[in-house]
Amino acid sequence: MKKLIIINGPNLNLLGKREPEIYGTNSFEDVFKSLKEKYSDVELYYFQSNIEGELINKLHEVGFSYDGIILNAAAYTHTSVGIGDAVKGIETPVIEVHISNVHSREDFRHISYIAGNAKGVITGFGLQSYELAIQSFL
Ligand code: DQA
Repeated sequence: MKKLIIINGPNLNLLGKREPEIYGTNSFEDVFKSLKEKYSDVELYYFQSNIEGELINKLHEVGFSYDGIILNAAAYTHTSVGIGDAVKGIETPVIEVHISNVHSREDFRHISYIAGNAKGVITGFGLQSYELAIQSFL
């Protein structure tokens, strides 16, 4: 059984309430529940934090034993050398995901400290971005 984890960064705990015109009206708990049901042959875990160091600690914790990491580092994508270095330093492949198409938004969202060390990037498919990442690991 493949072991995958979805790691969400800052403000993604507000999904469903936050800027629904960009991020939709579903909470991530609902999305995760339906992914668990649909991909019952996968050991699927979920972690969210608004704190940069906690995201780095989680990457270290899972990054030598899991089969894949689906990482939406949210705003830290565009600012965090530390998270970028963590992705580089671990063995488990990471797919960077975004709900919105970051390339159609402000210039500062076009920069990623993660993408260069990721297996790939999925951006702009709404909450389906997470499912596409799961499928690419299977
Ligand atoms: C995001 C895009 C980021 O630019 C933004 O800071 C987020 C969410 C997305 O999933 O579209 O918080 O990662």
